[in-house]
Amino acid sequence: MSAPLRLGIAGLGTVGIGVVKIVQQHAALLEARCGRAIEISAICARDRSKNRSADISIYDWEDDPVALARRGDVDVLVELMGGPDGPAKAATEAALEAGKDVVTANKAMLAEHGQELAEAAEAGGRVLRFEAAVAGGIPVVKTLTEGLAGNALTRVMGVMNGTCNYILTRMESAGLPYETVFEEADQLGFLEADPQLDVGGIDAAHKLALLASIAFGTRVDFAAVELEGIDRISIDDIRHAADMGYRIKLLGVAQMTPHGLEQRMTPCLVPATSPLGQLEGATNMAVLEGDSVGRIVLRGAGAGEGPTASAVMADVIDIARGLRLPTFGQPAALLADTRAARANSPTPWYLRMTLHDEPGALAKVATALGESEVSINRMRQYGHDDTFAPVLIVTHKTTRSAIDRAITALGHTGVVAGPPVALAIEPV
Ligand code: NAP
Ligand code: HSE
Repeated sequence: MSAPLRLGIAGLGTVGIGVVKIVQQHAALLEARCGRAIEISAICARDRSKNRSADISIYDWEDDPVALARRGDVDVLVELMGGPDGPAKAATEAALEAGKDVVTANKAMLAEHGQELAEAAEAGGRVLRFEAAVAGGIPVVKTLTEGLAGNALTRVMGVMNGTCNYILTRMESAGLPYETVFEEADQLGFLEADPQLDVGGIDAAHKLALLASIAFGTRVDFAAVELEGIDRISIDDIRHAADMGYRIKLLGVAQMTPHGLEQRMTPCLVPATSPLGQLEGATNMAVLEGDSVGRIVLRGAGAGEGPTASAVMADVIDIARGLRLPTFGQPAALLADTRAARANSPTPWYLRMTLHDEPGALAKVATALGESEVSINRMRQYGHDDTFAPVLIVTHKTTRSAIDRAITALGHTGVVAGPPVALAIEPV
C-alpha cells in the first residue's frame, strides 16, 4: 500500500466541513478505491473557537493559510476559503511554489487568475483541479475533460446558479414578484454575501468561462462573457413566456463561431418541455454538445455541503490515484488566445412592449421591425386599459444586431412606452 495522501484544508465553512466529514466517514472506502489512505494533516480557518459540525480537534491548526500550504506534511492544499484574490490566491501560489498539488472550489479565483495559476502548476509539475467550482456536485469538469475528450465540442450551455433558478421558478409557481422571492431566498440563506454575484449573473459567468476554456481549448476569458442578471425579469414576463410555452432561465451559452468565441450569461427563454425548461428550484443543469456524442445533459445539486464536498473529493481521489490531468484539459501554455465574439448567432426573440392604444400603433411597430429586418412569427395583445396595450411578439430567427436596431427604431415610433423587454429564445 502506498503512503497516505495528506491534505491541508484551508476553509472550514459549508464546503470545508463537508470535506472533513467525507474523509472521516468514508476512510475505508477511500483507501480501498485509491489504494492508499487519505488523511488530513492540518486545517485552517479564521476563527479557531467557532463551533463546527465535525470533530476537528484531532488535526493541527494553522491560523495562516499560507503557512498551512507550506507545511512539510501537506501533499495537497484544499483551498475552500473563496474570493478571487487575498488569502485564497496567496495560499494557492504558496502551495504550488512549495511543490504541492491544489484542489479548489473557487470559481472566482480561477475565472480571474486561472491561466497564470494553471501555468504555474504545470511548470512545476503540480496539478490544480477545480471540479467543485462549476455546478457543485455535477461532475461536469470531469465529463468535459475526460468523458468527452474525443469530441470537438460545439456548444456548452448551463443553468449554473441555483439561487437564480430558485428565484425564477418560485416566481412562476407562487405568482410572486421578484422582490418578494429575492427576500425569501435571502431568508433561506441562498444568497452569496454579495447578492449581485448571484442575481447579477457573475457567479454563473465565472463557471461558464471555466467550462468554455476546457470545451474550446482557449484561455479563460471571463471579461469577455456578455452578462445580464435576472433582476429586471418581471412576473409578467414569466407569465407571458409560460403562456407561449416557454420558461425563463439564467442560461449560460458558449460556442465557437467563425467570428470567435461567443460567451453569454443572460436570461433566455427555453421551451417549457425541454430538460432546461423543466429544471426546478436550486438545481443546476449542464448541457454539452459534441460532434460525435451529440448532446449530454447533466443535472444535480449545484451547491451545498454534501454535493460540493463530493466534487472536491473527486479531485482529491484523482490525485491519490495518480491521475494528473492539466487544469483545463490540455497544457495551459498551449491554450489559444482566441478572439471574443459578440453573441450574434440567429435565434428567435421574445419582445414585450407597451403600446399607446391608438389607431395605427401596431402598424408602426410592424414597420419598425420590418425595416430592421426582424420578421414577426407570433404576436399577442393582452388585456389593456384605455391608454396602454401590452403586446408580445415572438420573432423568426434573427441576430442580436437586428434586435438592437429594432429597439432603436421602436423608440422612434412615438407609440411604444419605455424600452421593450427583449429576450433570446435559445434553441435547446
Ligand atoms: P464559507 O462557508 O463562507 O466558508 C469559508 C471558510 O473560509 C470559513 O471557514 C472561513 O473561516 C474561512 N476563511 C475565510 N477567510 C479566511 C482567511 N483569511 N484565513 C483562513 N480562513 C479563512 O464558504 P463556502 O460556502 O464553504 O465556500 C468555499 C468555496 O467553495 C468558495 O470558493 C465558494 O465559491 C465555493 N463553492 C461553494 C459552494 C457552496 O455550496 N457553498 C458551492 C460551490 C463552490 P471561519 O469559518 O473561521 O469564518
Ligand atoms: N451561489 C451559488 C449558487 C452557490 O446559487 O449556485 C454555488 O456556486
